[in-house]
Amino acid sequence: MHDHATALRRQGQSIGFVPTMGALHQGHLSLVQHSLRDNDATVVSIFVNPTQFDNPDDLAKYPRFVEKDLHALEQLDKNIIVYLPLAEDIYQGRVEADHYDFGGLEKVMEGAFRPGHFDGVATIVRKLFDIVQPHRAYFGEKDFQQLRIIQTLAQQLKDSIEIVPVEIYRENDGLAMSSRNLRLTPEHRGAAPFLYESLQKAREMAREGLPPAAIKEAIRSMYDQHPLLDLEYFEIADEENLQPATAFEPGKKYRGFLAVYAGDIRLIDNMALN
Ligand code: PAF
Repeated sequence: MHDHATALRRQGQSIGFVPTMGALHQGHLSLVQHSLRDNDATVVSIFVNPTQFDNPDDLAKYPRFVEKDLHALEQLDKNIIVYLPLAEDIYQGRVEADHYDFGGLEKVMEGAFRPGHFDGVATIVRKLFDIVQPHRAYFGEKDFQQLRIIQTLAQQLKDSIEIVPVEIYRENDGLAMSSRNLRLTPEHRGAAPFLYESLQKAREMAREGLPPAAIKEAIRSMYDQHPLLDLEYFEIADEENLQPATAFEPGKKYRGFLAVYAGDIRLIDNMALN
């Protein structure tokens, strides 16, 4: 892959990169479409990265459908380059994450509830960037905190890789697309659009001028009454530094972020509030 990317660069071709963990859905395919549009060559990696899982059961049960994924990519464009590394190729016997400092972005929300997760993400993304040598890399806003961390990583690496954010791709009922949705029971799948509804509610309240504390209280109580969903956190944070907001300051952008358990399955979502 490294040699191939080097050759493409020598030929003056621009490389777009979409890193994934497979079980591709429309959300991934929309990232790939953006890359196909912007670049001469598009590389999609499929690698279930062990170092970003804080829960071994989640890693073991993470959906893997490589044949189906390859078919979906081929349908989209026959020239997509698919990189399917083995853990040995990537980690060479040392399956460990490096430690990163992202100025506090990594400490809140997912970082607080999934210790070590972003070290694992940054470690793999850095390794993949070194191999694939992209000009542009595409990340979905569904993992907004990950996106902010990767933007910061790219600045730290000084490789001049452009990080391109892509809007959340939702099912018709509002549920944000995620490979984990495949593991929901029919009952939990039926309940899951509540995440989107609760974020919309938060946005409505923000537009009505309610302060963050009141909105957070209202959202928590919506989940307290829900028979099937357990809220892990709902946070309102500044889009730039991801620190929890105590007030909506003019000129700044804020988002609502949540993590919810639907049975054993942990779902996350977020929405711009202003
Ligand atoms: O968002 C994901 O699927 C993963 O975190 C990523 C960026 C592919 C790294 O393993």
